[in-house]
Amino acid sequence: MKTQKIAVLGSGGREHALSWKLSQELGQENVYTLPGNGGIPNSHNIDISDFEALENFLKKENIDFVFVGPEQPLSEGIVDFFQGSDIKVTGPSQAAARLESSKIFAKKFMEKYGVSTSPFHVFDHIEQAAELIREKKGNLVIKFDGLAGGKGVFVCSTKQEAFDALAQLEKKYGKQVDFLIEDKIPGDEISLIAFTDGKHIKNLLVSQDHKQLLEGDKGPNTGGMGAYAPVSVPSGLMKKIEEKIIHPTLKGIQKENFHYKGVIYFGIMVKNSEPYLLEYNVRFGDPETEVLLPALKTGLFEILQAVEEGNLKKINPEFHPGYFADVVLVSRGYPAKYETGKEIHGLENLPGDILVFHAGTKQQNGQYFTAGGRVLNIVGHGETPSEALEKAYEGAEKINFEGKFYRRDIGQRRNTELKQTP
Ligand code: GLY
Repeated sequence: MKTQKIAVLGSGGREHALSWKLSQELGQENVYTLPGNGGIPNSHNIDISDFEALENFLKKENIDFVFVGPEQPLSEGIVDFFQGSDIKVTGPSQAAARLESSKIFAKKFMEKYGVSTSPFHVFDHIEQAAELIREKKGNLVIKFDGLAGGKGVFVCSTKQEAFDALAQLEKKYGKQVDFLIEDKIPGDEISLIAFTDGKHIKNLLVSQDHKQLLEGDKGPNTGGMGAYAPVSVPSGLMKKIEEKIIHPTLKGIQKENFHYKGVIYFGIMVKNSEPYLLEYNVRFGDPETEVLLPALKTGLFEILQAVEEGNLKKINPEFHPGYFADVVLVSRGYPAKYETGKEIHGLENLPGDILVFHAGTKQQNGQYFTAGGRVLNIVGHGETPSEALEKAYEGAEKINFEGKFYRRDIGQRRNTELKQTP
């Protein structure tokens, strides 16, 4: 029988977790990560935005299955490029990937298919927004239409903040720029990540990300400082999420005739027992993946095959008991200009039940050095949330590099809105 090989595209902690999970079914030698990083075994430095170079590498290595980690290749049409070839690429087509790559397209899709979301207004010039900002007293969210690596969303509370956000947009993109303004819904935010084959959607556990740099959700937005799962979601609320968000989304995917075989991420705000969809992503979240995959008992490759075959109906994902927590260690200066090249100590001394997923590291002569803003994800598992967190923090303390920083309150949110919901 032919050896099954897969390539994971991307270079962060999410991709390390994907490689780790897939290697349990396929063997690490059959799981390639492109370009990967210093800590992901079987990493190969291939430019994943050059689809022809990528195709040559895949053919040379006899790899016929690809899983795409980040949004960029999906929004650039990687699925369309490989359509009809012998190489199967899991993910949405470029048209479907607009659910993430265009915030305006996504909001219009939600409106068209009755997905619960906050009211919004669309603009194509900076000066059009002043009246609305004054009317809402600056209490709103401004979103640049395109992909901006997490830097295109401004959550504002005052007129000053909103006008500052517009000034930032103008500085970067000029006055003529596509953006939207939506009502701000303060509440508890959760991430629900699922697989779809275009006919069915199968959920993973609900998780929670911690996007801001500092404790108490203060400071600038980052790529994510930690996550935990499962978040307990009352059954009444889960039913509303299914009815008001997931089902209408699937209906929309079908009505639009999207080719969508991959991962769909629902960023959901819960307020007064109601779920509101903040955003779609068309890929796994980072750092959510670093807790979701250790929690997943079912084989990931088994699921990806079912997605590809349009047979997701037969899969009922199973999960390991207990809780999973991820603490992200970042470099001094992150998310602004950060330090790199610092030697990492202590990786070899970690207890075997603590998982480490590398995000921004490089290896030189058998030693690891920092090479990114987010450096390492330290993942703990426990019977209770506090046991899982204790494990993750034990690991976070044992690892050292100059300028190491991490949040000490991962998994500590009160989630009052979630708890109130029946
Ligand atoms: N954790 C949020 C994201 O991946 O976009």
